[in-house]
Parts: sequence; structure tokens; C-alpha cells
Amino acid sequence: MGVADDIARVELDALRARGLLRALEPLRSPAGAEIELRPGERLINLSSNDYLGLAGDARIAAALAEGAARWGAGAAASRLVTGNFLPQHELENELASFEGTEAALLFNSGYAANCALVPAFVGPEDLVLSDALNHASIIDACRLSRARVEIYPHVDVGAAEHLLREIPARRKLVVTDSIFSMDGDRAPLRELSEVCARHGAMLAVDEAHATGVLAEKMPADLRMATHSKALGVAGAHVAGTRAVCDLLLNRARPLIFSTALPPAIACAVLKSLQIVRGPEGDGRRARLWRNVARFAEGLRSLGLPARANSPIFPLVLGTPDKALGVASRLRELGVLAKAIRPPTVPAGTSRIRFALTAAHTDAHVDAAFSALRTAC
Ligand SMILES: Cc1ncc(COP(=O)(O)O)c(C=O)c1O
Repeated sequence: MGVADDIARVELDALRARGLLRALEPLRSPAGAEIELRPGERLINLSSNDYLGLAGDARIAAALAEGAARWGAGAAASRLVTGNFLPQHELENELASFEGTEAALLFNSGYAANCALVPAFVGPEDLVLSDALNHASIIDACRLSRARVEIYPHVDVGAAEHLLREIPARRKLVVTDSIFSMDGDRAPLRELSEVCARHGAMLAVDEAHATGVLAEKMPADLRMATHSKALGVAGAHVAGTRAVCDLLLNRARPLIFSTALPPAIACAVLKSLQIVRGPEGDGRRARLWRNVARFAEGLRSLGLPARANSPIFPLVLGTPDKALGVASRLRELGVLAKAIRPPTVPAGTSRIRFALTAAHTDAHVDAAFSALRTAC
């Protein structure tokens, strides 16, 4: 069947043998606390990033539909050509107000935003310090920058400061997730910000899992946030000063060389932001944190570790096969909690990643919990 097909088969066999093969399975229902995978198979969904339960929200879907009716389905060009529409500007103004920054600039995804951000600010003469558990998009962004990249041990501010002190470079950037996507713990942002200030370094923070979830905004020179998780839509932004956003507009290759986010998506995110920033958003956050506390309590009663300072709970099991085994037993019991394996997490730390949302009821949390008791 050709060289590419031969290579693909060999590589796939190798992945299969190591328990690392991945495949797609389509949902037959919208995103939500309960979803349908196989026909008739209703599952409690503990594997989404839909933290405020907005991905399936009818009001946001209506804003998307109205946006598409008014502006069309596609942007038809890059922002810098003719893909630049009023809703994108309106959204950027709202996002800057939400972030408390001078400006914000839209990107097509969080992945694109990270790959834009890091290479725009550092290059071959520079130093980047990256937390050992940073998201893959940050890892790729660092590689793209061609800067010297040093990985500091997870959340180890002292190690980061040591590297900042010892390694000479034209510019220095420390980059970190704010809530770590697969571990659910939080970066010591205040301490990192102080260390950066002492050493004239920039701090870039990826708020993918924090935006809409944590009310407070932590200090950062460059803040990246996704619209695909708590905001329930798609796309991302970088927030900062006007000059930061103007530099990105001029340098960010994922923005310059890619068709803009459709304006209808901007309409949907505007609607979502309105909900997230209003009293309903506060109510949804309160519900989410109640669920987090209830789930943590349950985990602890099983003698399992539970941090409860984010909606993400890792149950580290070790090998891919162990994680797949527990995931499949949970699914038989009506709970979808996917196995997370390398390269998403380091070798030897395959896990189940549970993620709570505001859409879960007490009954969902308790049912998930009793399934877990049986499955482990
Ligand atoms: C920490 C982190 N950064 C960036 C991304 C990428 O965001 P997006 O899904 O919008 O591309 C994700 C998730 O996918 C993430 O977990």
C-alpha cells in the first residue's frame, strides 16, 4: 500500500504493544454531565474540561447560530488580511476588561496561542525556564522559539531562581501552567512572579484550566487563556499590555499564517463571557467547588489522595494497562473517566484523570464514587 502505509503499520504495532494506541469514539450527544457513546450507553462524564457546564448551553449555541447567520460560517482569511470582523474586536475588548489588562488578542486555540507567545518573546540568544509538568503546547512552543530551554522540577521556585541566577541570557522567560492539566495542582505564581521580578525575567502563565474556574487573577507579564474549557466554546487569547498584543499581532506566526477564528465563534464566546462574569457564573463556580469538595471527601474515604484545589483529580496507577483496566471497569459501571497515558503524562504515571464540572449533581458525584469503589 505504499511507504507511508508500511511505516504507519509498524509504528501502530509498536504503540499497541506498549498499551499506548489511541483511537476515536464519537459522542452521540452534546457535551454534558451525562453523555452517550455507544447507542443507548449513557455515561456520567468525568473526562471533560467543561468546568462550568457551558459547552452544551443552548444560549451560547444560539449566539453561535445568530453569529453565523449574521457573519457567515468562516473568516475567509487571516486577521491581517480580510479575516478581521467586528465581533472579534468586541470580544477582545471584553476579554481585556475580564482580564484587567490593557489589551487581549485572539488565537484559534490554546495550542496556537502558546506557540505564538513563546517564540514572539524569546529567540536563540535567550533562556526559557519551563516547569517539568507543563502542557505539551508549552513544550512545543519552547522548542519553536529556539531559545535555550531548561526544565525546572515541578513547582520548584528555588530551582527556577537558581537557573535564572546562573544562566546568562539576553532575555529570560519563565513559563508555567497555572492549574496543571493532568495533576490538578497549582503553580506558585506569586512566588514565581517575585523571582522573575528579582531577575528581570518575564513570567508567562497558561490559564487554560483556571479561566472561569478561579475568580482571582494572578500576576503575570503574559497571560494565555483558552475559551475551550470553562467558557465552553473554542479559541484562546493572550492578555497583556497594548504593546504586548501589538507585538504578537506582528510576530505571532500562528496568527499571521492561519485563517482567523470565525466571527460566529467570537459571538458565542461573548455570550459565554457574559454568563461567566455575571451572577450565574458565580453560582456555577460555587456548584463546581461544592462538587470538588464532595469528590475529594469521597476519595479520602477510600484512602486515596485528594488535593481539592482544582476540579482535576489524578488517580495515578502506573502502567498504561492498569489505567486502561480501571477506565474500562468504570465504563462498565456507567462512568466515563479516561485513562491518560504517555506522552500526555510521564512514563510510569499513567492515570485516570477525573474532572468535575458545575453540571454534575450530587447524584452524579456519588454514583461516580461508588463505581470507583468497585472498580479499584
Ligand atoms: C494547559 C493547557 N494549555 C493549552 C491547552 C490547549 O488549549 P486548546 O485546547 O484551546 O488548544 C490545553 C488543553 O488542551 C491545556 O491543558
